[in-house]
Amino acid sequence: MSSTSSSTSTRKLIFVTGGTGFIGFHILTQLLDKGYHVRAAARGRKISLLKKALSANYSSDNFEVVEVRDVCFGDFSLILKGIDGIIHAAAPLPGRVSAEIALRTAIEGSLHILREAVRAKVPRAVVTSAVLSYDYPKGPYGADSWNPITKEEAIAFGLPSLIYAAQKKYSDLAVVEFSYIHPEIDVTLVGPPFNYGPFARGFEHLLPEPDLDSLSTNATIYSFLRPDTTAFPIVPGAIDVRDTARAHVLALESPLSPYVGRKRVAIVCPHECSYKAAIEIIARERPELKDRLADVRRAPEWSCNTLPLDWKRISEVIGMNRDSFFPWEKTVLDAVDSLLRIENLWKEKGFDLKKVKGFIR
Ligand SMILES: NC(=O)c1ccc[n+]([C@@H]2O[C@H](COP(=O)([O-])OP(=O)(O)OC[C@H]3O[C@@H](n4cnc5c(N)ncnc54)[C@H](OP(=O)(O)O)[C@@H]3O)[C@@H](O)[C@H]2O)c1
Repeated sequence: MSSTSSSTSTRKLIFVTGGTGFIGFHILTQLLDKGYHVRAAARGRKISLLKKALSANYSSDNFEVVEVRDVCFGDFSLILKGIDGIIHAAAPLPGRVSAEIALRTAIEGSLHILREAVRAKVPRAVVTSAVLSYDYPKGPYGADSWNPITKEEAIAFGLPSLIYAAQKKYSDLAVVEFSYIHPEIDVTLVGPPFNYGPFARGFEHLLPEPDLDSLSTNATIYSFLRPDTTAFPIVPGAIDVRDTARAHVLALESPLSPYVGRKRVAIVCPHECSYKAAIEIIARERPELKDRLADVRRAPEWSCNTLPLDWKRISEVIGMNRDSFFPWEKTVLDAVDSLLRIENLWKEKGFDLKKVKGFIR
């Protein structure tokens, strides 16, 4: 579904931020599978880990890894030399950094990347948003839909999920304003909900030791493999990470804004993505895991386990049709198999998961 070759895209060079993350690494592999060349940003020890992760399946002729210490700062003129498009997926998930750094990284990070892109005459950019930046969960999910939270309220409440909703909303607002002032760069915002699914091939090199944060939102599926789990997502909306990555790559190839209007799209799996069903699917299809599963009675139930998106608009802007999304069962089982593979790799390396915070087995 995600890895077809395309003659139109061959040889273009795409700069990607956030490529050491769950979604960004899928974006890198899908771009490479489609024949693009990629230049990926990384920082600290992730520079060598990302090189290793990509080298596992791709020739180093097709990718470069460059150091970007912080997406909010620095001169990118060399890094963006010869770049045909940017996918900016780097941003902190809820609770990873302070409110101030989360807001700054999301807002200033997006603006800095776009300013540098304009300076380097890069013609296209795709920025990762989130469905939370819309009037979520009720919708509608049009280009002018915004959640009502203000920065001040988010900081005052101090809840990571509210700070995250504010950081994504204000990043989108800043990007929309920027793209009005700078029509010379064509910008698309892609806003997914909770992402789940397998890690892309090679990503195990970016998970050298047990660390729940590095699993991104797949930590939720991993928590279903613990009988003591009580915390579930409290709002609906999910998507297969492979579909999120596909949306980004399609956005890079989408019709220009003068033809289709402002390109800010929410994307959500159109199937019923129920957490109760997820645990039941694992119990049924992976019976050997039955003893370690979360209590299905604790899973939340909503009247609808997807969100009412404007599918005509999504198809018009990025060419994604509602019948092309991964089914929930496949997302869940591929995530579980991938997580168990990582867990086994950690055990083979000698890590005692019972001694690691957040792990019990
Ligand atoms: N996961 C979801 O369900 C979900 C849903 C909606 C939207 N999103 C958005 O999707 C994007 C990627 O999420 P993810 O799930 O892949 O998260 P992730 O696995 O935590 O990856 C986050 C990425 O951002 C990078 N990053 C964070 N702060 C940075 C900074 N100041 N400078 C440079 N790089 C920085 C990280 O680099 P290091 O590896 O060096 O830390 C990593 O590559 C984010 O924009 C997120 O808001 C995610």
